Amino acid sequence: MLRRGGSKLLLCLVLALLSVVSAEVFFEERFDDGWEEQWVKSDWKNDENAAGDWNHTAGKWSGDPNDKGIQTYPDYRFFAISAQFPEFSNKDKTLVFQFSVKHEQKLDCGGGYMKLLSGDIDQKKFSGETPYSIMFGPDICGYNTKKVHAILTRDGKNHLIKKEVPCETDQLTHLYTFIIRPDATYSVLVDNVEKQSGSVYSDWDLLPPKKIKDPDAKKPEDWDDKEYIPDPEDKKPEDYDDIPKEITDPDAKKPEDWDDEEDGEWTAPTIPNPEYKGPWKQKKIKNPNYKGKWKSPMIDNPDFKDDPDLYVFPSLKYVGIELWQVKSGTLFDNVLISDDPEYAKKVAEETWAKNKDAEKAAFDEAEKKREEEEKIEDDKDDDVDADDDEDDADLDNEDAEKHDDKKDEDLKDDSKEEDSSLHDEL
Ligand SMILES: *[C@@H]1O[C@H](CO)[C@@H](O)[C@H](O)[C@H]1NC(C)=O
Repeated sequence: MLRRGGSKLLLCLVLALLSVVSAEVFFEERFDDGWEEQWVKSDWKNDENAAGDWNHTAGKWSGDPNDKGIQTYPDYRFFAISAQFPEFSNKDKTLVFQFSVKHEQKLDCGGGYMKLLSGDIDQKKFSGETPYSIMFGPDICGYNTKKVHAILTRDGKNHLIKKEVPCETDQLTHLYTFIIRPDATYSVLVDNVEKQSGSVYSDWDLLPPKKIKDPDAKKPEDWDDKEYIPDPEDKKPEDYDDIPKEITDPDAKKPEDWDDEEDGEWTAPTIPNPEYKGPWKQKKIKNPNYKGKWKSPMIDNPDFKDDPDLYVFPSLKYVGIELWQVKSGTLFDNVLISDDPEYAKKVAEETWAKNKDAEKAAFDEAEKKREEEEKIEDDKDDDVDADDDEDDADLDNEDAEKHDDKKDEDLKDDSKEEDSSLHDEL
């Protein structure tokens, strides 16, 4: 008895140990000093003077001023930066992709997403054109787009998640986590709370449909799909066409002062005939032979090939940020790529969760200060205000247009439908 109990205990210990040891971290970046050794800034848009830069900072407000991330600057720039890690496949593994984003600039149109890329990539040329495997993170534009993107790429085609995942829109740090498991289920977490989950099979159209309409099927000649037919019993009454459209007004009287010689012969005015019902129409009845609308039968799609490894990205090797921003100020931090959601949770608690209350307090303080300063400014130069407002409106328009263009680039490989749905939202 004792021995068995002991070995059980030992087994428990070994299992516990295994579960601690088993967390594999493929990449982790907290952006401490020396972060630049891991990251390669792309030369993309350098020659057009449109390449953005990165500020190593905790930002204007934070829970811990020493906990820095990297923040986009200046405005109107393309940002592209990436880091390499030892290539791995997520086959038979859980994939956890997690990072935090803070839009300090009160973002009204722009992204805060990151990408995982595969194979060999020239990091100096990393751009919006570079193929990626996974794109994940918040995207905001105007009132309509406030969502978490979760795009999976298969055979060179980007597929948007078919479910809505709302993102955070304030100016504080938020944590985004994407988990893909070996049973092809997935979860999207925002601030450690699950916002969406399901199956990679059903929530992305990665595979062609299992069933399609039989292209060879034809509607049978004798298929009656008329729901209503003219009633053969309904006959036009013989005198129907004799009923005049108008009749003389029976109430009309010749005016007393009517002078036939001067005014001509008096004729009574006409009025619409209440008996007249318009041209005759045969009544319609339900067609007793109606068979319903003809539908092409569904057949197995010859192009469909099931893939038990649908969730697998066999050669993940880079993580990158690639954005266009009109208003800069997005701060990324605590990037993690691991196989262990528990470890990701632990990192979340050590970073985002630990700092969030202090960050909120620091933000409120900064807001108070800003409002006070604005009030002083307002009082100072009332008459410059009108000009300022005009400029702002212009910027906003440009903002939305650029975002549009950018999306076209991003999703150029997408099907028409996906593309247009994205536009509808914008
Ligand atoms: C970097 O961030 C800090 C903190 O917000 C700010 O004071 C500084 O001006 C920023 N630098 C640039 C180049 O934007």
